[in-house]
Amino acid sequence: MKILAIHGSPRTTHSNTRRLAALVLEGAAGSGAETEMIDLVDHRITPCTACEGCSFTGTCVFDDDVPALVARMQEADAVIFGSPVYIDNISGQMKVFFDRLADAIHYQVMAGKFGCSVATTHESGGDEVVAYLNHVLNYLGILSVGGFSVATAGKAEYVDDAGAEAQALGRKLAAAVTSGFSDPVQETLLADNRSYFRTIVEENRDFRPEEYGRWLRMGWIE
Ligand SMILES: Cc1cc2nc3c(=O)[nH]c(=O)nc-3n(C[C@H](O)[C@H](O)[C@H](O)COP(=O)(O)O)c2cc1C
Repeated sequence: MKILAIHGSPRTTHSNTRRLAALVLEGAAGSGAETEMIDLVDHRITPCTACEGCSFTGTCVFDDDVPALVARMQEADAVIFGSPVYIDNISGQMKVFFDRLADAIHYQVMAGKFGCSVATTHESGGDEVVAYLNHVLNYLGILSVGGFSVATAGKAEYVDDAGAEAQALGRKLAAAVTSGFSDPVQETLLADNRSYFRTIVEENRDFRPEEYGRWLRMGWIE
């Protein structure tokens, strides 16, 4: 069982968000998961220019680290998203990465995985950012087992104070991988998303035949 955390703080090892995501990974590791952390700031992630190149070929016109990051997500059984709150939203690093996942979202290449989300903030926006991160997991076809945020009020030790909750979230995520997890509301949403993206997959079948074939095999196209 592989569980991957991806966080969007530029503060690397000083980051509250990274620490919180690491605590979630600790919980998952205690349940037998092999864990990995990705610091987005250490990677070359070019902002999407909406050229639609990926739509036609499946490959971005920019030669950077995103394909390798997507491959690492695909290898994982579960994905944790973490972001600091920046002006009541996710960080720019996280958003630039998410925009580059549009093709992965359209073709639902992460479907069947589990996930969860965490955020840290000084005071505001934590729950909204967690909800948004979980929303992006759902867009990717990933079922979220939950998430929470920590408001530090400038005290980094508040993150460690949330260690028990973070580790419990990691154990819940690992349990979803080993024993399954069901949430009818999210499952309906994921099915609705797939039916929406099916139009794109059908429209592009001539230049994305492999993806079209995969959707047929998955039973997502009749
Ligand atoms: C550019 C920027 C914007 C921020 N915006 C907010 C905000 O809107 N509300 C808030 O309470 N804290 C805000 N903060 C504080 C961070 O959310 C908080 O310090 C967070 O824990 C940082 O996470 P990190 O240590 O993982 O980078 C902001 C910090 C920065 C640098």
